[in-house]
Amino acid sequence: MKRVEGKVALVTGGAMGIGEATCCLLAREGAQVAVTDINVAAGEEVAQRIVESGGKARFYHHDVAKQEDWQRVMKEVTSDLGPLDILVNNAGIVIVGTVEDATLADWRKTQEINMESVFIGTQEAIAMMKDRGGSIVNISSVMGLVGGTIEAAYCASKGGVRMFTKASAIHCAEQGYGIRINSVHPGYIMTPLLVNAASTLPNAEDILKELISRHPVGHLGEADDIAYGILYLASDESKFVTGSELVIDGGYTAR
Ligand SMILES: NC(=O)c1ccc[n+]([C@@H]2O[C@H](COP(=O)([O-])OP(=O)(O)OC[C@H]3O[C@@H](n4cnc5c(N)ncnc54)[C@H](O)[C@@H]3O)[C@@H](O)[C@H]2O)c1
Repeated sequence: MKRVEGKVALVTGGAMGIGEATCCLLAREGAQVAVTDINVAAGEEVAQRIVESGGKARFYHHDVAKQEDWQRVMKEVTSDLGPLDILVNNAGIVIVGTVEDATLADWRKTQEINMESVFIGTQEAIAMMKDRGGSIVNISSVMGLVGGTIEAAYCASKGGVRMFTKASAIHCAEQGYGIRINSVHPGYIMTPLLVNAASTLPNAEDILKELISRHPVGHLGEADDIAYGILYLASDESKFVTGSELVIDGGYTAR
């Protein structure tokens, strides 16, 4: 028996990085995966690769900041694949900026994509899952646990995801919905998000070296390191786990 055999999973931001690794792993472990993203070409390619390797997946164009997109995609996924068992709120962005140089527009865009989307998605998923249970996994960050100077708006969004996760987890448990909600807190992972954010800085190489030095294990993480944690929280193996925060950070926050 595979670990999420027969379950229907929706992963936002599934076209690359941690989302892509999660889609591939959930499919390998038996789930039917809705790969959703704003990047159509890359997202379709991920779904196609999963199907070619014997898994079940389908791509959906989905901007997580738009409530109407959530409503459409949830309906399409239910009709194509069946009722949703797993939602992974993974899509996210980082706009580099300290408290002094971040603009209000950058702040709002960050909260919209990283935090408001998690609220909308969780609310939509609860409405669909409350009669039969399910698992919602929200991707926060170590930046939702400790501060980082050059990403002020990002820290705020990820701290918000952490506490929203706990509030909604307790609510669902008390209502007896059988829906578990947990957050995952990756350290720095080598994905397009990190590479793109670093490339906006004049001293990108030095910043990467500095980031590596903050991880006691001596290197950055890989997307799969996070996908394995998400798989655990998505599966019934974690049936007693809700409102918790799974830190996968090479020791970053242990100091
Ligand atoms: N890479 C890291 O170091 C790191 C560390 C901690 C947390 N995280 C978090 O993990 C998650 C995934 O990050 P990643 O590193 O894989 O990023 P990534 O940039 O490699 O991939 C993010 C994906 O999200 C998609 N996306 C962006 N805006 C979207 C929107 N409005 N609607 C739908 N999709 C959208 C992108 O097209 C992309 O496919 C994010 O929430 C990020 O904050 C990443």
